[in-house]
Amino acid sequence: MISLPALLPRFIVTVVTIILLFSSASAWKKDEFRNCDQTPFCKRARSRTPHSLPHFTLSDPSISDGHLTARLLQSISSSDNDSAAGDAPRPLLLRLSVYQGGILRLKIDEDHSDPSAPSKKRFEVPDVVLPDFEDRRLWLSRFSFSDDGSTSSVYLSEDFEAILRHNPFEVQVRRKGSNDPSISLNSHGLFDFEQLREKKEGEDWEERFRGHTDSRPYGPQSISFDVSFHGAEFVYGIPEHASNSLALRPTRGPGVEHSEPYRLFNLDVFEYIHDSPFGIYGSIPFMLSHGVKSSSGFFWLNAAEMQIDVLAPGWDDAAATGKGRIDTFWMSEAGIVDTFFFVGPRSKDVIQQYASVTGTLAMPQEFAIAYHQCRWNYRDEEDVASVDAGFDEHDIPYDVLWLDIEHTDGKKYFTWDKVLFPNPEEMQKKLFSKGRRMVTIVDPHIKRDDSYYVHKEATDKGYYVKDASGKDFDGWCWSGSSSYPDTLNPEVREWWSEKFSLKNYGGSTPSLYIWNDMNEPSVFNGPEISMPRDALHLGGVEHRELHNAYGYYFHMATADGLLKRGNVKDRPFVLSRAFFAGSQRHGAIWTGDNSADWDHLKSSVPMILTLGLTGMSFSGADIGGFFGNPEPELLVRWYQLGAYYPFFRAHAHHDTKRREPWLFGEQKTALIREAIHTRYSLLPYYYSLFRKASASGVPILRPLWLEFPEDKETFDNSEAFMIGESILVQGIYEEGQKSVSVYLPGEQSWYSMRNGAAYAGGQAHKLDVFEDSIPSFQRAGSIVPRKYRFRRSTTQMTNDPYTLVIALNSSLAAEGELYIDDGRSYDFEHGAYIHRRFVFSNGRLTSSSIDLAAASPREKFSSSCTVERIILLGMRPGGANKAVIEPGNYETVVEPGPLVLRAGAVSVALVIRKPDVHIADDWTIKVL
Ligand code: NOJ
Repeated sequence: MISLPALLPRFIVTVVTIILLFSSASAWKKDEFRNCDQTPFCKRARSRTPHSLPHFTLSDPSISDGHLTARLLQSISSSDNDSAAGDAPRPLLLRLSVYQGGILRLKIDEDHSDPSAPSKKRFEVPDVVLPDFEDRRLWLSRFSFSDDGSTSSVYLSEDFEAILRHNPFEVQVRRKGSNDPSISLNSHGLFDFEQLREKKEGEDWEERFRGHTDSRPYGPQSISFDVSFHGAEFVYGIPEHASNSLALRPTRGPGVEHSEPYRLFNLDVFEYIHDSPFGIYGSIPFMLSHGVKSSSGFFWLNAAEMQIDVLAPGWDDAAATGKGRIDTFWMSEAGIVDTFFFVGPRSKDVIQQYASVTGTLAMPQEFAIAYHQCRWNYRDEEDVASVDAGFDEHDIPYDVLWLDIEHTDGKKYFTWDKVLFPNPEEMQKKLFSKGRRMVTIVDPHIKRDDSYYVHKEATDKGYYVKDASGKDFDGWCWSGSSSYPDTLNPEVREWWSEKFSLKNYGGSTPSLYIWNDMNEPSVFNGPEISMPRDALHLGGVEHRELHNAYGYYFHMATADGLLKRGNVKDRPFVLSRAFFAGSQRHGAIWTGDNSADWDHLKSSVPMILTLGLTGMSFSGADIGGFFGNPEPELLVRWYQLGAYYPFFRAHAHHDTKRREPWLFGEQKTALIREAIHTRYSLLPYYYSLFRKASASGVPILRPLWLEFPEDKETFDNSEAFMIGESILVQGIYEEGQKSVSVYLPGEQSWYSMRNGAAYAGGQAHKLDVFEDSIPSFQRAGSIVPRKYRFRRSTTQMTNDPYTLVIALNSSLAAEGELYIDDGRSYDFEHGAYIHRRFVFSNGRLTSSSIDLAAASPREKFSSSCTVERIILLGMRPGGANKAVIEPGNYETVVEPGPLVLRAGAVSVALVIRKPDVHIADDWTIKVL
């Protein structure tokens, strides 16, 4: 029997937790989280000035196994920190490797062959770099010394070389024949590497924060260095931070008021504020730089806490050179130096180079890119049925209904509350009969309840993360006292993945998909609401070393579970809150608990754009804002913007008022319906972009500069974005906004998607703002495939005919693409898809096939879909009145028509009516 005194602490924790989580008056609790000054490794590193440390010298460069290897030695021991004070530092091992496509990899670690090296090995993050990346390594067979012997250089690509300066040590990537680097490391002599060592007598390695003690058994082990991006106007990336700026603002140096570095530490931050360098749920230590002439990138594969400063010109007291260089300073608590330099030189090259290391997004099923309806919580089966019916009654399509934590039996995942959800299978089948799916939540905190099979198995098999004393770690989360599977361990991942089989997950059906939340991991009574850093994973890896990748592994194991459940025939859908570099291979992510205010609406765009630039293309923000009740105007604007997010889901906290789309009066319902219809009409275009992103890594939502890399006006634009290459959207972020200035880049014009009107490119336009939509434009020279029949869900749209919207450029030409497959399986990997290329020129539209993968033998995929309309934006009225279709040589009419088929819609462009050609066929249509 458990005594009352034994229960008391638990009771207190519960009460405190409840107060903490549900006091709606509270906002972001800054004090819960450490700032740089409260984080000793960050404070130490940040207090250094350039070249103030004893410098590192490179010696004994040689070629070994196709790498360049060398030793790095610090001239004397460091004295400004608590690292190796008094000890002679051991030489470090450096290894430089070169990969196809312009990628340089630099690794620096301790030399474990040194007899004086401690037995503990520093953590190298496994499973993130693609398994086949090593196949792309170029075998280095030689390097050259400079004439004076001060540098060594190796071949990097046709245009670039890597230079190693020996003393002081510096790495430079530069264009051949030029003396100017494009990226460099340690140009400011800030490189430092705290080596593992024995504790000295009287030394205190413990760190304390708000009543939590981190035992730090291995002592200081941080690493820091400076990285400079030359020829750069701005730097971008390193999510996740809430910000209303896409370009990373300087965090230190002249003119910087609030001096905190960008923190990369996955945390469950309650009511995060919309603009702060503070770290939230996910971390991707990848930064891109961009300037008029070129782009480059830098990625540090390290899953420990990281802090990154972007330094304002003059930070080092040197006069700004005016040459466009951005200096940054990277600090990590643990791990090794495992860094990747991407030479670009174009921004899309940088993205593809990064994708060749960490992978591209997993191609989602078609339903997953349509509209999702979520709420914490849909109460019971009746509620689910009535929300589902509500969509049909109001003629609004949706594809997925979500169930949050309350659907479970006492927050035991993989179970159902038997009273509220007595027939889960039937419920899912009913939804699926309308082509709709369901998602349930499965979090990593496993309730410590002996009658719960998941807990029992994990305990018996020893699958939980351990605390510093070696016992199963016990932390507090939704399920009360909980433990966390150690998904770093492949055996645990295998076990976890089996939990999703239809047999093991009672009440699940093949149309059920999964949501992984709280996987930072969130631990309500832990330091900074997370797991203690001295908790232990497989092989004695400390949680501090892997923290930022915990959610990654959990997401991976879950996605693998769904893959196996469907016999590798059904593409998984798993939404995760926490993420790390490479999470794009496992599924989608969202930006967590935002708030129902205009500022959060605005910051969603730079946040999603940043995620796209760093591989996580499939992402979105909670439509309407998670906390609080949006005014109807805000909700409508959020739907209008969110309809363009790659991941399109409405979600709300359980304390908020219900906000299904039809609850704000007929007029608002109509506006929301219109926004959702816009997304559904663009699904063929989106799906084609997802395929492109899954093949190349280029994001779906793109900053304007990715498409207009030389246009400086676009570099700092955080309010507008491109969807692929052809559509530009400007958000409306203010209440009652009547007009907006929209910058339309490039030399060609843009056509309003609202009314077909043309606007000149290369200038800003002051435009009226309407209630019915936010400004969106199709680029002249593009062809966008759409579908305009609105159904209950994507499933019913499969055989619907297409509309092609042709936006003519000044030469009356345009081109575009369409990708189609079965929307579900992996057959596309064996050639079962249709990929068309449309070209309009000289009054003739042709459709031909593009073969992405020359798979042989090719599996078949066919579609009976036809093209029902072709809209010609930019063709003068009367410019054509009929069209002749080949093969067949038959005619159809060309006449003025509306953009959208709807009663009362006005004719704004010439339309080829009913060409009725098959989408899968080759054909030509000539307008006369
Ligand atoms: C936190 C998540 O961010 C939120 O979306 C979810 O509704 C709650 N956890 C409850 O599961």
